[in-house]
Amino acid sequence: MPVVLAPMAGVTNAPYRALCRSFGQALYVSEMISARGVLENNKKTLHLASFFPDEHPKSLQLFAKEPQVLEKAARILTDQGIEHLDLNLGCPVRKLTATGGGSALPYKQRRLKRLLAAFRRGAPQQNLSIKIRLGIDEDHLTWRETGRIAQEEGMDAVALHGRTAAQLYDGEADWDPIAELSASLRIPVLGNGDLFDASDALLRMRQTGCAGVVIGRGCLGRPWLFRELEALFSGHSPPPPPNFGEIKAIIRRHGELLLQFFGPELGPRHLRKFAAWYTKGFPGTNHIRDQLVRIKSLEECLALMEHIPDDCPFPPRAIRAKRCKKGGRQRVALPPGWLDSRECE
Ligand SMILES: Cc1cc2nc3c(=O)[nH]c(=O)nc-3n(C[C@H](O)[C@H](O)[C@H](O)COP(=O)(O)O)c2cc1C
Repeated sequence: MPVVLAPMAGVTNAPYRALCRSFGQALYVSEMISARGVLENNKKTLHLASFFPDEHPKSLQLFAKEPQVLEKAARILTDQGIEHLDLNLGCPVRKLTATGGGSALPYKQRRLKRLLAAFRRGAPQQNLSIKIRLGIDEDHLTWRETGRIAQEEGMDAVALHGRTAAQLYDGEADWDPIAELSASLRIPVLGNGDLFDASDALLRMRQTGCAGVVIGRGCLGRPWLFRELEALFSGHSPPPPPNFGEIKAIIRRHGELLLQFFGPELGPRHLRKFAAWYTKGFPGTNHIRDQLVRIKSLEECLALMEHIPDDCPFPPRAIRAKRCKKGGRQRVALPPGWLDSRECE
């Protein structure tokens, strides 16, 4: 299946991946884990990097900017049986870019080369990929060189989100660079940005010739999107979306998995944002979302939804309803003088 669940911090943990897996086949990648946290045996990092025993392939996203740290972390994780590692080189957040990490790093080509060479040394046999944005901003695009360097350094795939770091989630993703990169590289290019239903994904693959698609916000509160994708990519019509009765059963299952993984105190906290996404677009739910983001138990969560009839159909407008990440651009925070040269100092 040419479908990948996008790594999403606070979302694509083991419980969410298990839930999505129950709907269809795809590559389900973990949320971003710090390579340094792996080396330092950080308890929280290791918990987030853990998998339910039946999960295969075990796929993890790392962030790192120091080659030695990445090499060692990749080696440790490989020894632990991780089957796919993705490196996040597209993160737009200040904490990473201001110190030359995330989406700032690919601007320095030699540094990028060293980092990816170390990544490969740490995991010589593993499936390795990188995830990038178009660049820092419109005047400092990096996707062409980054794709080429990734291929030279032995990466197995490149996932490209068609926005710059300055764009955050503003406007529409630009898929033209995804088409161009797909045509210019021998390794698979996976396209990412604004895929909200299965037909969006198929259309983009046909338009751009990319080898696969990465699904982000489209599956928030809609894990059954993977069932629709699997059907469409196997030549069948996607099944209809669940009605609210079926969605309640999905929420119960999701809640139970979160409780199992995070425990009785943290589990319900994690459920809060998902519960709000599940109800998005259903009539008469605006008033409960304020309460859903404060729930302390799964029962409290389901009780708040009792007034929604089980036979209430999934509203088509909910497919593209904004879940998470509003519009708005940013000025990307960078180390002093970062843009002066594309090479390492
Ligand atoms: C809540 C949230 C968390 C995210 N966390 C990560 C992350 O940890 N690593 C990463 O590479 N991208 C992360 N992203 C970006 C997504 O992987 C994806 O590239 C982006 O949402 C664009 O795809 P979409 O339009 O399908 O949502 C995150 C996005 C969201 C909405």
